[in-house]
Amino acid sequence: MVNSPSPTIGIFDSGVGGLSVWREIVRQMPHAGTLYLADQAHVPYGPRSAEEILGFARSITDFLLAQGAGIIVVACNTASGVALRPLRAAYPDVPFVGMEPAVKPAAEQTHNGRVGVIATPTTFQGTLFKQLADRFGHDVEIHTRICPGLVAAVEAGDLDTPGTRLLLETCLAPLIATGIDQLVLGCTHYPFLRPTIERIVGPDVAVIDPAPAVARQTGRLLRKQDLLSHDTGPAHHTFFTSGPAARLHRMARTLVGYEGKVTACTWHGAELWTTR
Ligand code: DGL
Repeated sequence: MVNSPSPTIGIFDSGVGGLSVWREIVRQMPHAGTLYLADQAHVPYGPRSAEEILGFARSITDFLLAQGAGIIVVACNTASGVALRPLRAAYPDVPFVGMEPAVKPAAEQTHNGRVGVIATPTTFQGTLFKQLADRFGHDVEIHTRICPGLVAAVEAGDLDTPGTRLLLETCLAPLIATGIDQLVLGCTHYPFLRPTIERIVGPDVAVIDPAPAVARQTGRLLRKQDLLSHDTGPAHHTFFTSGPAARLHRMARTLVGYEGKVTACTWHGAELWTTR
């Protein structure tokens, strides 16, 4: 159990992508403690089956609850798409916040009715995205693209290398050709590539990252349940990874300036263990 003021916000992703959500949560709720879990033993989730991802999501939820989390933020579009509903059903007393590609704000803001979405294959196949496409697909054209290799590039810290720029140019060219004026970042890894993406799509395309809205929703849920800590002292954060701790340490410092503790945890069959 952690010693931080309760409740602690448990956040997870396949890797460092969810840190784009973590930094918004910390910006909006600077006194709330967090537990961040990067399942780097299994990154990327994108090409994996829904069943496998659901299994990971359940075990990670058990792990974060055991470590003291009072709310779970699924800071991964891929895991949210397949696991959010089953998680809510399996843990009726736990508040969950999930990600979905920000098609709604894009549909509201577009001037020419053309919206682009980049995400993983599993996100596009999931029910959450299908519902969004059904709901908004009549009013706007929704153009989708998967971007193989981008998650790995962010995990490696290659944010603005020639290789990553080429991956992005190749991925975005067909979307730009359709004339979109909104581009939804449908994977939490992509906001770390935002400056490069904005250079490629140019000033006429608005780039939308749902992280601020997800952090606001987390705050709303905490307040509704009267769970937001009234502490005004420094918040306690702990990061876990199922991969090498030194790797997450390095990347968390580079991506979000996190200098705190990183603890390794290990998969034992379907369970996550830590020795801390
Ligand atoms: N960051 C994740 C997402 O939002 C997962 C990407 C992956 O592991 O493929 O979809």
